[in-house]
Amino acid sequence: MMNDQLRAVLQGMPKAELHIHIEGSLEPELIFALAERNRVKLAYPGVEALRAAYAFSDLQSFLDIYYAGASVLLQEQDFYDMTAAYLARAAADNVRHTEIFFDPQTHTARGVPMQTVIDGIYRACQDSPVSASLILCFLRHLSEEDAFATLEAALPFRDKFIGIGLDSSEVGHPPEKFARVFARCKELGFHLVAHAGEEGPPAYIETALDLLKVERVDHGVRCLEDAALTARLAREQIALTVCPLSNIKLRVFDKMEQHNLLSLLDAGLVATVNSDDPAYFGGYLNENFFATFDALPLGLSHAQRLARNSFSAAFLPAGQKQAFLDEVDAYFAAV
Ligand code: ADE
Ligand code: ZN
Repeated sequence: MMNDQLRAVLQGMPKAELHIHIEGSLEPELIFALAERNRVKLAYPGVEALRAAYAFSDLQSFLDIYYAGASVLLQEQDFYDMTAAYLARAAADNVRHTEIFFDPQTHTARGVPMQTVIDGIYRACQDSPVSASLILCFLRHLSEEDAFATLEAALPFRDKFIGIGLDSSEVGHPPEKFARVFARCKELGFHLVAHAGEEGPPAYIETALDLLKVERVDHGVRCLEDAALTARLAREQIALTVCPLSNIKLRVFDKMEQHNLLSLLDAGLVATVNSDDPAYFGGYLNENFFATFDALPLGLSHAQRLARNSFSAAFLPAGQKQAFLDEVDAYFAAV
């Protein structure tokens, strides 16, 4: 159990969040408020019944509810309100920079224009004191053709997002399914990331690196099952965006005491802590720090390393990155 001082340090330290799905920040209260505003019928009678359904057995059981929750998003203002709520919550956790995933296909498939999605999310980022950039994710349970069409529809707004990611149901949808569309995104100059090694095997991490040319791996926690892969990730300093509360809720690990965050750090990997889908998994970024530091033998030096990793792994210009790293070091020099 960590002490009060360590908790206060974790709360106050400057940090970046690199793995947050904006649709996963939609709280039940906002889901119902938007459902009413847009006259969308939900399968649950109220907030409590919806929250009670958040008992997941694996990734797919979560995704089914997550896509249902997103069905209330129709107008630009809905995307703005969702994003503004997340950014306010992130600011309260001393998040200084965030790289936000969004899933346009979840919305365009319901007839919402791409521009509505991107403009609403982007405008909220512009209005926030938190530094924020956007990463467009392809849904891997859909076809590569659909991903190409999504990229095409988003290109008129290419100045509003900095990267491309890959999410949704991992097992059975390996990275190679998206090799050609990722190659096109690389040509276009986007940063590249992909979910890999969450439920899927270590081989998916390897193909995400070799075939998709990703710069960071989202989750990646199953890398430790392959010693050669672990050594490579350490050697190449490929960052992993680890999501501890998500991993427990989706049963990647049984209990936080069994989470491998400390083992990843001990193996020399650039692990970071993130919230994934905070409205569904029981906590925003600081709750993820508190839960891991409560359950594992992590101390001040790990806190500093995780805060530094979050900025080192960010897609920021070198000067801005160094300024954040200096802020972290100044903060820890004073504790
Ligand atoms: N979409 C939202 N959260 C996700 C996760 N943890 N894995 C894959 N796809 C997701
Ligand atoms: Zn995720």
